[in-house]
Amino acid sequence: MVIKTICILGGSGFVGHSLAARLVSEGYSVVLITRNRERHRDLLVLPTLKIIQANVFSPNVLRNVFDDCDAVINLVGLLNESGHNGKGFHRAHVELAEIVVQACQQTGLRHLLHMSALSASENGPSHYLRTKGKAENLVHKYAGPNSHANAGTSLAVTSFRPSVIFGPGDSFINRFASLLKLMPGFFPLACSRSRLQPIYVEDVTSIILKCIGNPVAFGKRYNLCGPRAYQLIEILEFIKSQMGLETRIVALNNRLSWLQAAVLEFFRGKPFSIDNYNSLTVDSVCDAAMPAWFGIKPKSMEAVVPAYLAEDKNEKLSLFRSRARRT
Ligand SMILES: NC(=O)c1ccc[n+]([C@@H]2O[C@H](COP(=O)([O-])OP(=O)(O)OC[C@H]3O[C@@H](n4cnc5c(N)ncnc54)[C@H](OP(=O)(O)O)[C@@H]3O)[C@@H](O)[C@H]2O)c1
Repeated sequence: MVIKTICILGGSGFVGHSLAARLVSEGYSVVLITRNRERHRDLLVLPTLKIIQANVFSPNVLRNVFDDCDAVINLVGLLNESGHNGKGFHRAHVELAEIVVQACQQTGLRHLLHMSALSASENGPSHYLRTKGKAENLVHKYAGPNSHANAGTSLAVTSFRPSVIFGPGDSFINRFASLLKLMPGFFPLACSRSRLQPIYVEDVTSIILKCIGNPVAFGKRYNLCGPRAYQLIEILEFIKSQMGLETRIVALNNRLSWLQAAVLEFFRGKPFSIDNYNSLTVDSVCDAAMPAWFGIKPKSMEAVVPAYLAEDKNEKLSLFRSRARRT
């Protein structure tokens, strides 16, 4: 299957930035749909990337854009909704997936690559995991169990189920790093024993690239994990040591973890929510190594995180110095 032009939905975010750059460097033309073009102008430095500001929920918009594309990658996802009843998750994950897969079929687009999440399941413990699971099943059902795109008549689907993703600009390591700086004395950590197997964003994008238009990946759902599983508290201890902080990390018991979620749910930006708490009641780790044909030796947090945490610290230091000189 020859793929030249790829549409990305949700491509302005953390994974999208890395993916768009890789696609362009591999020679693809990229069309990225966003709700706010101005906010993502930085992406326009990529020579074969076009940004369209439009409503991704509009079937007409998608049909028009998909007409000129050979594949679509759907990265739209929320970790927190603005409300509290799951409707926001349902709309962004399930409703959108349905609109996307229908638009793919109507335009004869060949390959849909869908971003899900590890442990996503229709019976999952949180709105996030349930709607991710529902959306994933839906796109595979539409495309058929094996979803082989033959003679251009049917749509091939591949989905990706990553554990938490890290890399420069992530909202996982960086968020905990900021919170640790805000609380220099002690840090009350909810769900400290939850198990995660973080994967590097560049490994995720390499895998997506390997799968584009590749019949081996049609109809497949890939669990994606880094080389090692950690308890959340181990990750916090690692970040703390990289930052040279003395903060004491206090593991909250289950009841206090829930209580923390119930309170922070109502803070601006929802730093932690009941839905996040529920998601963390299941492990986000892989039970098998990734397929050998990916040709990836996943990078560890230890190999990647120190550089970007230090960069952040240096950037802040130089900003501080330049401000100090001005005064
Ligand atoms: N990061 C992780 O650790 C992780 C782990 C597992 C799975 N995933 C999944 O991987 C995908 C990408 O993650 P990410 O970290 O790159 O996310 P992100 O940085 O939050 O970006 C998600 C993008 O989705 C779009 N979006 C969000 N809410 C939307 C809404 N209500 N309507 C329309 N568009 C909306 C946004 O695009 P615009 O603002 O430009 O419209 C945004 O750029 C998501 O599906 C996520 O669930 C991520």
